[in-house]
Amino acid sequence: MYQPRWRLDTGFLILPRHTSGATTKMRWRSSAAHASTSKIHPEDLGYTSTLSAFKVSLQRLKTDYLDVMLLHKPWCWPGACSRQPEGTWKDGWRALEELHGLGQALAIGICDVDMDLLEELLQQRQKPHIIQNWMDPFHQDKLVRRKCQEEGIQYQAYSTLGAQWVYFKGYEVNPVFSNLVLQEIAQFHNRTVAQVVLNWAVHRGISIIPASKDPTRQRSNFHSFDFTLAQEQMDAIDALDGALDKKGPEL
Ligand SMILES: NC(=O)c1ccc[n+]([C@@H]2O[C@H](COP(=O)([O-])OP(=O)(O)OC[C@H]3O[C@@H](n4cnc5c(N)ncnc54)[C@H](OP(=O)(O)O)[C@@H]3O)[C@@H](O)[C@H]2O)c1
Repeated sequence: MYQPRWRLDTGFLILPRHTSGATTKMRWRSSAAHASTSKIHPEDLGYTSTLSAFKVSLQRLKTDYLDVMLLHKPWCWPGACSRQPEGTWKDGWRALEELHGLGQALAIGICDVDMDLLEELLQQRQKPHIIQNWMDPFHQDKLVRRKCQEEGIQYQAYSTLGAQWVYFKGYEVNPVFSNLVLQEIAQFHNRTVAQVVLNWAVHRGISIIPASKDPTRQRSNFHSFDFTLAQEQMDAIDALDGALDKKGPEL
């Protein structure tokens, strides 16, 4: 199973498309403890366009391979694409399969996968190494996680700290940080809520990619794994699944 410890995310939202390896003075070299990840924008879905977009990623990063290449979405969501993609996620997947076969993408995956799409992916020549989905204590995505575990696919969570409730679901305050159960557990261990949530997720076999612009929070999030949650604390967090009203559109 693919489990890098650190990830350098060069998705188009993280490194803007105009940013190049030259301007950032970045030259990617992976190691046992670090992994590079990039994504194909949905407007680049299609066999030829996915191959071209991948080539551009390599050029910008001045590397000849990436550890992980993901399809950012199986389709264009409203407002995401400036042009019609040349093809579908299946065409893009075919391109990623080929790049994987050539050793240019060591692991391949896709984001925002529901059970139907996962079943379709399992029928492809190469099943995904990684599925990256929204997962936090109130949205635990248990069916997809279980299937990934059965199939030996690494489940990677985005927005583990609850950002989707604010960005996407119309909540004014992030309900993860204000939750009393999580606050009590954090207080018990003299930790932050973020550390408790990240610890819980990793103990559930989930790969995490928390984001923070604040170096102090980045450091604190990194030090989330040197304490052990009691079984009843793990269970109490598991039980938060579905506790919030999922107002707003489905992802
Ligand atoms: N595949 C997809 O469609 C998709 C969608 C969304 C995100 N992602 C990926 O997932 C990564 C993380 O997701 P995300 O940014 O949506 O959500 P997240 O990790 O759940 O939360 C990030 C938010 O939490 C805050 N935060 C982080 N650590 C904190 C701490 N210790 N205490 C208090 N607040 C803290 C951050 O604020 P500060 O910056 O102020 O600390 C930021 O507002 C992103 O980098 C992106 O690569 C992927």
